[in-house]
Amino acid sequence: RSAAVPHWSRLIRDVPDFPRPGIVFKDITPVLADAAAFAGAIDASAGAWRAAPPDAVAGIEARGFILGAALARELGCGFVPVRKPGKLPGTTLFEEYALEYGRDRLELHADALPAGARVLVVDDVLATGGTLRAAVALLRRQGARVCGAQVLVELSMLRGRDRWDDPAPLHAALAL
Ligand code: PRP
Ligand code: MG
Repeated sequence: RSAAVPHWSRLIRDVPDFPRPGIVFKDITPVLADAAAFAGAIDASAGAWRAAPPDAVAGIEARGFILGAALARELGCGFVPVRKPGKLPGTTLFEEYALEYGRDRLELHADALPAGARVLVVDDVLATGGTLRAAVALLRRQGARVCGAQVLVELSMLRGRDRWDDPAPLHAALAL
């Protein structure tokens, strides 16, 4: 591999036929388990946002929580969870979306952020982009101003970026 490949990305593991036959799962748990790799992944994810940090990071359950919370600390801002159905205790808004494999729904506390708060949406992987787009729509309906989206890994073959017709910039620390 070339030197341009970030050191942390070498720990991403391909798991064939998960969660279904024919799907190659990109497993980031070895990246998270390695202190230097985890730090490198968060540093790479923070780069685009350091100049003008958001008021909050919104992380998408479940894997977006891990990266989003670490990124919020790195950028010195708050963290807001965008959750799977039935998990948030307060009054919620929801948005439905199509997943690479199946259908799901995301929920957000109706009072999660003050109106006009600048929020960065964070997830681990961009596949079709349905998850990220649903989270953006949800945050906007809640009254937040989405200043961008950050993923660790973009799966180029699934063309999620082509469907990202949004003025907010989308950054990926790595494209595979
Ligand atoms: C995975 C991944 C992203 C999403 C990407 O989440 O973590 O959130 O799919 O797919 P998309 O771009 O096609 O929408 P998933 O809900 O499968 O599981 P998780 O709870 O482990 O994050
Ligand atoms: Mg996810």
